[in-house]
Amino acid sequence: MSGKEGRGLQRALEPRAALSSVTPFRVMSVMQRAAELEQEGRHIVHLEVGEPDFSTAQPILDAGKAALDAGLTQYTAATGLAALRERISERYRREHGVDIAPHRILITPGASGGLLLLAHLLVGRDEGVLIPDPAYPCVRNFIRLRDAQPQLVPVCREQDFQPSVEDLARHRTAATRGVWLASPNNPTGTILDRESLERLSSWTRSEGLHLLVDEIYHGLHFVDDLPSVLEVDNDAFVVNSFSKYFGMTGWRLGWIVVPDAFVETATTLAQNMYISAPALAQYAALAAFEPATDAILAARRDEYRRRRDYVVQALADIGFVLPREIAGAFYVYADCSRFTDDSEAFCRRLLEEHGVAMTPGTDFGEAGARTMLRLSFTTSMEELALAMARLREALADT
Ligand SMILES: Cc1ncc(COP(=O)(O)O)c(C=O)c1O
Repeated sequence: MSGKEGRGLQRALEPRAALSSVTPFRVMSVMQRAAELEQEGRHIVHLEVGEPDFSTAQPILDAGKAALDAGLTQYTAATGLAALRERISERYRREHGVDIAPHRILITPGASGGLLLLAHLLVGRDEGVLIPDPAYPCVRNFIRLRDAQPQLVPVCREQDFQPSVEDLARHRTAATRGVWLASPNNPTGTILDRESLERLSSWTRSEGLHLLVDEIYHGLHFVDDLPSVLEVDNDAFVVNSFSKYFGMTGWRLGWIVVPDAFVETATTLAQNMYISAPALAQYAALAAFEPATDAILAARRDEYRRRRDYVVQALADIGFVLPREIAGAFYVYADCSRFTDDSEAFCRRLLEEHGVAMTPGTDFGEAGARTMLRLSFTTSMEELALAMARLREALADT
């Protein structure tokens, strides 16, 4: 083989250089290290995992088992089961008073599959998307996978970690195509109220930008009124999922809502990208909106609220600065600047020396991330109390 051929072969065996900008999940290495320590016999309190600690509710499990017994193991339509899309449409009518025709709802393999599809639908090479910093990390990476630019808009506690129109306008460039937000947000648990959504919608409309809101933590909210962006903007794009409120992370099921004009292309993308979302998960999810399931899920939400109240008080007493209100999701995004200016090292020490696993802010963004931590209250009150005791002990000499 000539030297030239050799170099060619080597190049072909390397991932695309552009992919080096796609960042790994730091929380995964925290989880891996926590598992190693557990194997050595250590007890670790898990505050790093962004996943409900409850198993899927029984009526959903029963529906999934029945589908399995009936041999419903084939592909479904690329857009999902008609009955499931109808139930989601009914839910929008019931919960949000909006009429979203089922054909605008596409069932996806998790919100992740939905976000990826939307990235292909909405974002092209060298274009830009405005995203708050901090935000769910995959969103930035999905934009980068399109050889496009995540345009990070730093947001702070005083604005509930949600960008204003003025913030967005400052970061907007000629390349900007849209704005991607989340309400409630991961990692901050903060929401966009109706007024904010209205302002954002009228700005994106007037600027010719698309507006996408990730509503995956809807249902897991602790305020009376949590509007969907669809209540104020019928042309907005929505991502949602059965993972969080419905407790179905491992089933890999979500949905997106797209405006009429995008349905056909979105369907073509779904056919090509994944053929259909998992069939069994879809049959199981038909039971997700039944009153019996809702009662179970509402009780779980109350438990998350109890945990939130406990952890917020305990962390504030220790000296962390917290969001003004954690209105939804199951995270506390805590400012630890009083204790450290290196949240990654801080998380490592807490895990190695004190057996508490948390996620450094650097997973979620850049602005101020080295003095932020994310804690998930997806574990029992007993474990949370233990975590707080260990934190107090760790910080006693700081
Ligand atoms: C804001 C947000 N969006 C999307 C996802 C992806 O969720 P899934 O693919 O499990 O539906 C997550 C997962 O944590 C998330 O926090």
